[in-house]
Amino acid sequence: MPTSADWREALSSPTPELLLSMAFDGISLPEVSALEGIPEPVQHHPEGETGIHLRLVMEAAWRLSSSPGARMAALLHDIGKAGTPSTPNHRGHDTLGAAMMPSAFRSSSLPPEHLDLCAAMSAVHQRVHGLSEKTSPKAGLSLLEDLGPAILSGAFAVDLADACEADARGRLGLSDRPYPQAALFKRMCARAVQAGFTGSVRADDGGAEINKMRAAVEAALTGRELEILPPPTIVPLSWVRITNAEEAEKIGGSLGRCISLGFKIPVDGERPSVWMLPHTKEGEPPLAVVAVRYGKIVSVFSKNGEAEWKASVSKAFSELSARVALRKPKEADAAARGGVR
Ligand SMILES: [Fe+2]
Repeated sequence: MPTSADWREALSSPTPELLLSMAFDGISLPEVSALEGIPEPVQHHPEGETGIHLRLVMEAAWRLSSSPGARMAALLHDIGKAGTPSTPNHRGHDTLGAAMMPSAFRSSSLPPEHLDLCAAMSAVHQRVHGLSEKTSPKAGLSLLEDLGPAILSGAFAVDLADACEADARGRLGLSDRPYPQAALFKRMCARAVQAGFTGSVRADDGGAEINKMRAAVEAALTGRELEILPPPTIVPLSWVRITNAEEAEKIGGSLGRCISLGFKIPVDGERPSVWMLPHTKEGEPPLAVVAVRYGKIVSVFSKNGEAEWKASVSKAFSELSARVALRKPKEADAAARGGVR
């Protein structure tokens, strides 16, 4: 039986032949040998069979990456297919494969340093294939959260993206298909880490952290650049009464309670700011707190004159701090988008 050192040697060979001969010998890695002859739906896999698919995937993996981790993840990503129905499309092979990974590594003495990447690859490769600029920021962030702190390592994200691309190109006649998902995924990981992603998202701050991370993910998916804004400042109060319906219409429904009070806010500055609507009685807390950026109302918090107005102020601040402005996409980024999913 091969040792971990033998597997490492095969993963670093100039061609995938040695690794394939070991993986398909029927003894050394039974989880992969079992995939020989497993049918694949031809609409996604013109080669029609998982053993052939994996050989094509290995060729693609060697073309795309010299990383042993990416190659190992590409080899093992479909091991769940031996235990799932081939029609319509091996549903559940992703989670089954991830669950099988630890015992496969143990019993075949696979290099343990690749276990986490291989389990993650099995678990999420179909979701990476589904990425596009139309993916919702919520779904994108959910993918990153499921991967957790692992993506803090840039190498992990690159290996996972390369293994996914090898899977997409390892299909008969599709070795040159465009795969923009790899760039999208890597950019999503990088932007989230840049915005402070730690592996999970805080849920005890009124949604500020979630908003910040979703904005980072959205910027990555749409190819737009992040610009972190300067911290907000409190601007002295200056409220103007609305004089007609047209004026109210211009301000829009986001003013909510403030419009019902018959006021509008002069939003003339470029800097983020927090405005407070004073209570009519001196010494009472404000009736509303409004966050403003680039001349637009971004949030309104009303408090009905209760003593917790300070919470409103800090919520308005965190809302502003969390949000990011978006600039036009760079040409290079725009060119990288599109293509075949
Ligand atoms: Fe596959």
